[in-house]
Amino acid sequence: MTPLLETSNLRKDFKSDHGEVFCALDGVDFKVFDKEFVCLLGPSGCGKSTWLRIVAGLEVATSGSVLYKGSPVKGPGRERGMVFQEYSLLPWRSVVENVALGPEVHGMRFEDRRELAMDYLARVGLEKFAEAKPHELSGGMRQRAAIARALANDPDVLLMDEPFGALDAHTRVLLQKELLQIWEKNRKTVVFVTHSVDEAIYLADRIVVMSAHPGRVVETIDVPFDRPRSRSCKGFGEMTERVFELLEGVQV
Ligand SMILES: Nc1ncnc2c1ncn2[C@@H]1O[C@H](COP(=O)(O)OP(=O)(O)OP(=O)(O)O)[C@@H](O)[C@H]1O
Ligand SMILES: [Mg+2]
Repeated sequence: MTPLLETSNLRKDFKSDHGEVFCALDGVDFKVFDKEFVCLLGPSGCGKSTWLRIVAGLEVATSGSVLYKGSPVKGPGRERGMVFQEYSLLPWRSVVENVALGPEVHGMRFEDRRELAMDYLARVGLEKFAEAKPHELSGGMRQRAAIARALANDPDVLLMDEPFGALDAHTRVLLQKELLQIWEKNRKTVVFVTHSVDEAIYLADRIVVMSAHPGRVVETIDVPFDRPRSRSCKGFGEMTERVFELLEGVQV
């Protein structure tokens, strides 16, 4: 089966202002299959965002290959939707106008894109806030709107860079649950970057653990638990311990 996304022997060097070369990713082999929920887990600075940005086409690899459905990635594309950690809504646009942005750029008629945006806002429970401006929303609501905006573009894969990192623990757990419901309904492929072992085990079909300096894949772990998952299910605690041990041993 051809993977939906694949990076092979991926390397990314950054050059400092003084001309020193810093290797952020080295030899990263990574496959993501259609409809999978994959979490990318690793210490700060190990290159998770860099990998995601390369796959999104926002950054160019130094060497190696980046394939989407078997073809080289040459830049951003509608089929790869990105959700960032920081709230990336346009502050001067209402929530519904933010969600309708992608369809608008692609030339959809006003009434159609509004209807579509309202539909996605309903899916994330924000229809009552359609006319609000982003600053009137809480952090969790803004991330819900960002997810709705990404979904309204109808991507094949959602690339999510620590989207819940700035939220309080309660809202975070709530949004994890909602994201899984949306994923199950829409059956998108998701690549989700996180620092949190608990979040990765709760969400993922597969966890890719990375180490830093340079960023490499250390291990890929299949998560066997049925959904909906409970953190108290048999094996959840043992897996948490195992992943923590793995992270303790990785290069930071
Ligand atoms: N534009 C850039 N210029 C120079 N160095 C960069 C640039 N972007 C990232 N780096 C470096 O590459 C490494 C990987 O960064 P990246 O942001 O991908 O890490 P990360 O795993 O996402 O970390 P975090 O979990 O803290 O978000 C870091 O050491 C960082 O300093
Ligand atoms: Mg990052």
